[in-house]
Amino acid sequence: MKTNLSVGLGKLKLNNPVMVASGTFGYAEEFRDFMDLKKLGAIVTKTLTLKPRKGNPAPRTCETPAGMLNSIGLENPGLDNFIKDKFPFLKKLGVPVIVSVASEEEPEEFLELVSQLDKIEEAAAIELNISCPNVRGREGLISQDPDATFKIVQDVRKITGKTLITKLSPNVTSIGKIAKSAEEAGSDAISLINTLTGMSIDVGQRKPKIAVGIAGLSGPAIRPVAVRMVWEVFKKVKIPIIGMGGIMDTDSALEFIIAGASAVSVGTANFINPKTSLEILSGLKEYLIRNRITEIKELIGSLKA
Ligand code: SIN
Repeated sequence: MKTNLSVGLGKLKLNNPVMVASGTFGYAEEFRDFMDLKKLGAIVTKTLTLKPRKGNPAPRTCETPAGMLNSIGLENPGLDNFIKDKFPFLKKLGVPVIVSVASEEEPEEFLELVSQLDKIEEAAAIELNISCPNVRGREGLISQDPDATFKIVQDVRKITGKTLITKLSPNVTSIGKIAKSAEEAGSDAISLINTLTGMSIDVGQRKPKIAVGIAGLSGPAIRPVAVRMVWEVFKKVKIPIIGMGGIMDTDSALEFIIAGASAVSVGTANFINPKTSLEILSGLKEYLIRNRITEIKELIGSLKA
């Protein structure tokens, strides 16, 4: 039986819905010996800022029950070094590359980042990371405020015709409202969820296990929250959703698709088994065949609720 796994994110067409999440896959080169990167639906880069960043002090990761905490603090080589040193490998792969960007302090930095990326043909899409919980010195996150979300997406929309994806934080009261703001401002797609803020304590030392204290929780522990948020957003917006948060295997990817995600991003699982995304891709094909479904699109938002 023939199956069709292609999906659309705005005008960006993916051969299949399985992507790898920002910050868990470096700039892909590190994974080249483990898997056939060309089979991925898309690759999302580690978030870039204009200038290089060293990130937060160590320790900046620790394991938690069914998950992990991270406070990397957006360590990255900066946009220019990325374009010079990392992008040449990525653009040869023939897989859509989604470039994730964030501002360090002022939201206006997004405009500079996006105007430079707009000139690069091989950058298939831009993800606005307005939801990183690990950068200090800022009053709340842009994605915690529907007006601030609307403003930055609207400003960026004016300067690029590329597919624009807005990445949202789960650390909010009404995820649907924030997603609607991004849609109304011109975002082509929504990705969610970024990490939930959390804390873990070394009771011997009575110190946080992460140097800066509060960090972002990911992994299977957060999956039910993420699936719930995808479902809420699916009911609220018409633009496609990229679902993520603790996807470990085919069934967890299916949960997101059935709740309303057009594509899924594998994150924390990449640290355990770098081939997880491709195993999920095979599993999705088998699921379609077993259930006599020809198009994966038929499954999107097919929850019987
Ligand atoms: C980090 O670099 O601290 C994580 C990035 C994010 O959660 O967006």
